[in-house]
Amino acid sequence: MSVEQAPVQRADFDQVMVPNYAPAAFIPVRGAGSRVWDQSGRELIDFAGGIAVNVLGHAHPALVAALTEQANKLWHVSNVFTNEPALRLARKLVDATFADRAFFCNSGAEANEAAFKLARRVAHDRFGPEKNEIIATVNSFHGRTLFTVSVGGQPKYSDGFGPKITGISHVPYNDLEALKAQISDKTCAVVIEPIQGESGVVPADKAYLQGARELCDKHNALLIFDEVQTGVGRTGELYAYMHYGVTPDILSSAKSLGGGFPIGAILTTDDLAKHLAVGTHGTTYGGNPLGCAVANAVLDIVNTPEVLDGVKAKHERFKSRLEQIGEKYGLFSLVRGRGLLIGCVLTEAWKGKAKDVFNAAEQEGLMVLQAGPDVVRFAPSLVVEDADIDEGLDRFERAAAKLTKA
Ligand SMILES: Cc1ncc(COP(=O)(O)O)c(C=O)c1O
Repeated sequence: MSVEQAPVQRADFDQVMVPNYAPAAFIPVRGAGSRVWDQSGRELIDFAGGIAVNVLGHAHPALVAALTEQANKLWHVSNVFTNEPALRLARKLVDATFADRAFFCNSGAEANEAAFKLARRVAHDRFGPEKNEIIATVNSFHGRTLFTVSVGGQPKYSDGFGPKITGISHVPYNDLEALKAQISDKTCAVVIEPIQGESGVVPADKAYLQGARELCDKHNALLIFDEVQTGVGRTGELYAYMHYGVTPDILSSAKSLGGGFPIGAILTTDDLAKHLAVGTHGTTYGGNPLGCAVANAVLDIVNTPEVLDGVKAKHERFKSRLEQIGEKYGLFSLVRGRGLLIGCVLTEAWKGKAKDVFNAAEQEGLMVLQAGPDVVRFAPSLVVEDADIDEGLDRFERAAAKLTKA
């Protein structure tokens, strides 16, 4: 039985929502695969993927089936009880990665919050309160809680909210010498995104991650990989650390893990997990049956050679065409990234104008993303059809032609 709902429009946002977002002028109401329709019935191709979340596109039949089957069984019991989907999901993640243990939460920020708290707790228990310093990288992004904006360290996200969490320093990304100069026996953790997502899709160098691993081992510090954006097949491996052959101590995951249903996780080893003993950390919703049922279905599909190899092939399809378009219209100086996390760096002439490209694409019926003001980002479904890639990039070329002509 459906209940009649009052009509709403974009203008309502400015009246009833806290103004911390500035959403586009249209309201998406339905999605299927890599297509989205707005209130007026206009169809768009989605290369934004809900910011690297809709890993299997919209309304994937297997995810709809997993969600509805679970919805008819059991939604929520809290962590006073465990549940079958959570145990199955943890087993799958443990079997597929370096980890022995999983902790579930509801978002990327919460996953990182748990990762940072675990790192501090381990250092506190093993070495005492002096060992509490966290080293992060300049321009990193780890979420919007007070701890995670403090670790992210970008003033635009962390200033103006009173005292920040202390004991955190920032070193330039991909600069091993800077990390070497900063790390000490007071360092409890080094946190790195294997590809910096929000600030421009910047991949780490292999030698940098290897060097960071060695420095952490030398100083008894934990290496945390924030794989909230790079995880769950996005780069063509289940997790990006697998490309590098560098294993973290703690890994945070979210976004694609639920394919659009909110869920986050940290993965870690037995030895570290035991420091979060009963009562030390928790969340009411974390690991709820609905989220875990969907994430199980996501992993069953994504963690297959067919999908992961497909991501690598689709990367090439995107990259070669984007390079062509970028060159033809003088728009991009570089196309970078891995798998289906792709960043197009704007040329000097278009620097600071990623939002204009976003708007021009939208006018042509295409959803893309920015990664800062200088980079246009693509994070589509991992199973986006080749025909949709081609048509989406045709639309993108029309947008580029109009924008550069204007
Ligand atoms: C690398 C990284 N970490 C953490 C987050 C925060 O995730 P959430 O928005 O789910 O809290 C993001 C979100 O963009 C991210 O890209």
